[in-house]
Amino acid sequence: MYCVEEIKNGIYWMGCNDFRTELFERIFPIPEGITYNSYFIDDEKTCVLDAMDKSCRDEFLENVEHLLHGRKLDYFVLQHMEPDHASSALALIEKYPDVKIIGQPQTFKLFEQFFRHPCPNNYVSVKEGDQLALGKHTLQFIKAPMVHWPEVIMSYDLTDKMLFSADAFGMFGTTGNVYADQVDFEENYLDPARRYYVNIVGKFGPQVVNVLKKASGIPIDVICPLHGVVFRTPETIQYIVKKYQHWAQYVPEKKGVVIAFSSIYGNTERAACVLAHKLSQQGIHDVRLYDVAKIHPSYITAKAWEYSHLVLAAPTYNLNLFLPMESFLHDLKTLLFQKRKIAIIANHSWASAAYKTMVDYVEDQFKCCELIEPALDMKSSLCDDQECIVDEMALRIAEDIKAYPDPETLI
Ligand code: FEO
Repeated sequence: MYCVEEIKNGIYWMGCNDFRTELFERIFPIPEGITYNSYFIDDEKTCVLDAMDKSCRDEFLENVEHLLHGRKLDYFVLQHMEPDHASSALALIEKYPDVKIIGQPQTFKLFEQFFRHPCPNNYVSVKEGDQLALGKHTLQFIKAPMVHWPEVIMSYDLTDKMLFSADAFGMFGTTGNVYADQVDFEENYLDPARRYYVNIVGKFGPQVVNVLKKASGIPIDVICPLHGVVFRTPETIQYIVKKYQHWAQYVPEKKGVVIAFSSIYGNTERAACVLAHKLSQQGIHDVRLYDVAKIHPSYITAKAWEYSHLVLAAPTYNLNLFLPMESFLHDLKTLLFQKRKIAIIANHSWASAAYKTMVDYVEDQFKCCELIEPALDMKSSLCDDQECIVDEMALRIAEDIKAYPDPETLI
């Protein structure tokens, strides 16, 4: 049995669901697995676009052999050298030693760094706008640096207006379907797609914006990413492109608040919950509470990307900000989190460090973020005298959310 499907006119999807890997890149939990896609073009010349993670190597090679029907493989477009796609590239080349490998000079440099197996006679270096004629189909190459490695190219089939988008428009999770229009994408896959984008590509928003600008100048009927589902209808393409416009410009999708807290003995947690309740009483819907010591930060960073406002609540520990919160804030900073309104609840018993550290992140380390006053630095637990500060904080946050522009107008 082969996991292949003709998308259009001799262009095939070859997919593999990986349920075995627990941590993608050994850091991101993927309880529902991840897909790797590669593509095959059956034309006067045969062409494979990208390989797969080595966990799917056998299946990948079997699918290619099946689709070749005994023909030779002419071209292998290596759009991205990251091992979740390229770790079976050498196996493909060893099986088809005459194949021409299409990439950028940096692709081949990375290929040799990973495999220590130079194949200079196979390399065909391409640059922006170069074309590869396969017969009915002609591929045109689009440079997409840092989406999400420097050597990335996307490929555009001029005949069927299909964009092979590399990592862009991919997602965590697996599906038994090939196409976005066959699943309830918003219900089941938007969160995994956002978490994938934010944590894998989120740091490179300006580069994604550049690629989106290039893509807006060409008609696209199908988007074929390297992870997740294929987008083949105008509705699903418009939907995911719009999400990318929000995400890449660091513009929230929703007016609302995420409360990210950490708590050693439950007192900071209690203050966070009191604030959440007061926000609810102020008419704020869908207040999201996350314990950063318990939930993997990749889920919370993605939620912070989605909502307009963020509250940070954490104690001092060993004269520093409690490490789970420090780690979460470090992640946000690394991902270039920006353009948000942020409120702070700190806690300490004898020496205060959490408050200053969180304020420093918001005011000096994050880009274009603004502190909502008043902030609260409580001592050990929330006392009655300080409840009025939480009331005021809830009021200010609620007013700010209500006055926040419709996120649709910001892209
Ligand atoms: Fe799916 Fe950047 O690799």
